[in-house]
Amino acid sequence: MTQIIVVGGTKGGPGKSTVAQQVATCLKIKKKKKVQITDIDIQRTTTSWCEDRRQNEDLELIPFSYVQDDVVKHLQSLEGRVDYCVVDAGGFDSEIQRYAMLMANVIIIPLRPKRRDLKSLRDIDPIIDNVRNVNENVKIRAVMNQCPSLPSQASRILASKEIVETFGIEAAPVNLYNRNVYDDAEEAGRSIFEMTGAERDKKAEAEIEDLVDYILSLEDK
Ligand SMILES: Nc1ncnc2c1ncn2[C@@H]1O[C@H](COP(=O)(O)OP(=O)(O)O)[C@@H](O)[C@H]1O
Ligand SMILES: [Mg+2]
Repeated sequence: MTQIIVVGGTKGGPGKSTVAQQVATCLKIKKKKKVQITDIDIQRTTTSWCEDRRQNEDLELIPFSYVQDDVVKHLQSLEGRVDYCVVDAGGFDSEIQRYAMLMANVIIIPLRPKRRDLKSLRDIDPIIDNVRNVNENVKIRAVMNQCPSLPSQASRILASKEIVETFGIEAAPVNLYNRNVYDDAEEAGRSIFEMTGAERDKKAEAEIEDLVDYILSLEDK
């Protein structure tokens, strides 16, 4: 059965596209899964990244599509054809994001440990409630992204996760820290798993792989 992972939310900038791209490439490169990437954000960030990837022969090809309207039909058409479909959603409430969430096995909501991002939970809350009413088995997790790595800031991350949980949303046990490799990798459609030499950041790689292992552990047994 194809597992649908929707990376979404109602806020621009917390790292939805980044997380979607890195999770998809980790599933493909490290976990050797059949992966499809679906971009439903009108900004097409992930579509351009996939197009850049396609130009580079050294990178493993990951099929992708930009979907503008009938995402349900699109996701149904993938059923059984790939192991994972990773969906990158736009940073605002939209009909298409809600439909994708209704079809999802897992919903990942990246948030920075910052007040503005946490405030977006007020908008996400009713959306998630609706999704849960219809899609009873969906696993919804917030992921703290762009976390500051200074030890003195650790309490901020913990406090943010507590706020997330007051909204009835579980926070993933894996935090993603602020690391330059994400920005560097984006160049020419690379993932952090395709960096070489001094450009590699093994801590970032381990974090994404931990997140992916966690997502895999959520799968319906
Ligand atoms: N963990 C991270 N560390 C450093 N930069 C990050 C991280 N996650 C995302 N970014 C950067 O933040 C910016 C916004 O990320 P993006 O994934 O486009 O957000 P969204 O899709 O939610 O709008 C990008 O420049 C991206 O490279
Ligand atoms: Mg985006």
